Amino acid sequence: MKPIVHAIAGSAAMLIIAGFWTSTLLSEVFLDYAAVAAVKHAIVYGLFLLVPFMAVTGGSGFALGKTRKGSLLEQKKKRMAIIGTNGLLVMIPVAIYLNGKAATGEFDAFFYAVQVVELSVGGMQFTLMSMNFRDGLKLAGKLRPRAN
Ligand code: HEM
Repeated sequence: MKPIVHAIAGSAAMLIIAGFWTSTLLSEVFLDYAAVAAVKHAIVYGLFLLVPFMAVTGGSGFALGKTRKGSLLEQKKKRMAIIGTNGLLVMIPVAIYLNGKAATGEFDAFFYAVQVVELSVGGMQFTLMSMNFRDGLKLAGKLRPRAN
């Protein structure tokens, strides 16, 4: 049961992050300021969904890892620490900041600089989560570990 909860929460968190990233890029490139502001607003509300999924992923992952050892697990733990730190110190404050700026129509150079940070760190978060997903499948015996 625990691996299923873990895999579902991890997959949901990844889908939410991919949704934030894609909707941000599409609205910035193709749509108007009102759409960008709506996306920034939705992302802040989306955090109320993402944060619990992340917490469940991390909590269930550490519980599953209690009885196991090995480099795959150690790497997953390290990545999770980076994901958590980035989330709390960069992604959440930046999402709130960009929403505030967009709500008051301040699409200045600083907005875009911070937007680039959000997209870059968001891409990094997704990559780290994908690596944890892959190593999770290896740990569960559903993907063959690379011979090296
Ligand atoms: C973003 C973070 C993470 C994602 C997306 C993720 C994803 C996954 C996935 C998809 C599986 C395969 C489940 C299955 O098919 O049975 C898995 C398994 C596993 N994960 Fe994670 N994981 C994450 C974080 C962690 C963390 C932080 C730990 C531990 C410190 C961890 C420990 C494990 C273990 C031990 C398994 C093997 C479970 C088994 O015995 O079947 N995961 N993970």
